[in-house]
Amino acid sequence: MSINKFTSTILFVLFSLVAFVSALPVHIARDVWDPPIISPNATTVWIVGQKYNVTWNTTNPPSQITNTVGRVVLAANGLEDYENPLAANFSILLGSIEVTCPNVTAGNDYAIVLFGDSGNFSPNFTITN
Ligand SMILES: *[C@@H]1O[C@H](CO)[C@@H](O)[C@H](O)[C@H]1NC(C)=O
Ligand SMILES: *[C@@H]1O[C@H](CO)[C@@H](O)[C@H](O)[C@H]1NC(C)=O
Ligand SMILES: *[C@@H]1O[C@H](CO)[C@@H](O)[C@H](O)[C@H]1NC(C)=O
Ligand SMILES: *[C@@H]1O[C@H](CO)[C@@H](O)[C@H](O)[C@H]1NC(C)=O
Ligand SMILES: *[C@@H]1O[C@H](CO)[C@@H](O)[C@H](O)[C@H]1NC(C)=O
Ligand SMILES: *[C@@H]1O[C@H](CO)[C@@H](O)[C@H](O)[C@H]1NC(C)=O
Repeated sequence: MSINKFTSTILFVLFSLVAFVSALPVHIARDVWDPPIISPNATTVWIVGQKYNVTWNTTNPPSQITNTVGRVVLAANGLEDYENPLAANFSILLGSIEVTCPNVTAGNDYAIVLFGDSGNFSPNFTITN
């Protein structure tokens, strides 16, 4: 094999490899899943210090979920307290997680945010003491 023939063979193999690799999908598609929160909802009243189940609808989860690790966060007036979750590190496929109502000022503009893939807000509900 001449040097030129050898070089062009190498080049052909390299170009073929590049073409093959760029034809591959960049990543396997995964589904973003935001299961709706069932409770708390607009009729819910929580009392400070009491235990409640946050529940969400797990009907028809996609087969591939980007992030199955759940986190439940309280939001006051639309502001999430992400750093102080009411629950974390549970499977989002559970459909329910028990939390203790934190000692916050009474109000009717609280919401629960359920994180997995991304944050999903409950309706606003009431907390009393
Ligand atoms: C709303 O939340 C309450 C608990 O706070 C629950 O008992 C009720 O079933 C929920 N309503 C609906 C429509 O899911
Ligand atoms: C939350 O749900 C679990 C499982 O259904 C149940 O054992 C527990 O008593 C519930 N907690 C409250 C505070 O309702
Ligand atoms: C859960 O979602 C399914 C559809 O995805 C719906 O048929 C069902 O009624 C929902 N259940 C509750 C308790 O909201
Ligand atoms: C909950 O209350 C906040 C603050 O008042 C408001 O910005 C938000 O739109 C309300 N959310 C819903 C779902 O009504
Ligand atoms: C969740 O897991 C992370 C990493 O393992 C840990 O740093 C964090 O404290 C855990 N949070 C809770 C509420 O268990
Ligand atoms: C909540 O906090 C207030 C003031 O910090 C305190 O007086 C009250 O006893 C607390 N309530 C509970 C249920 O821990």
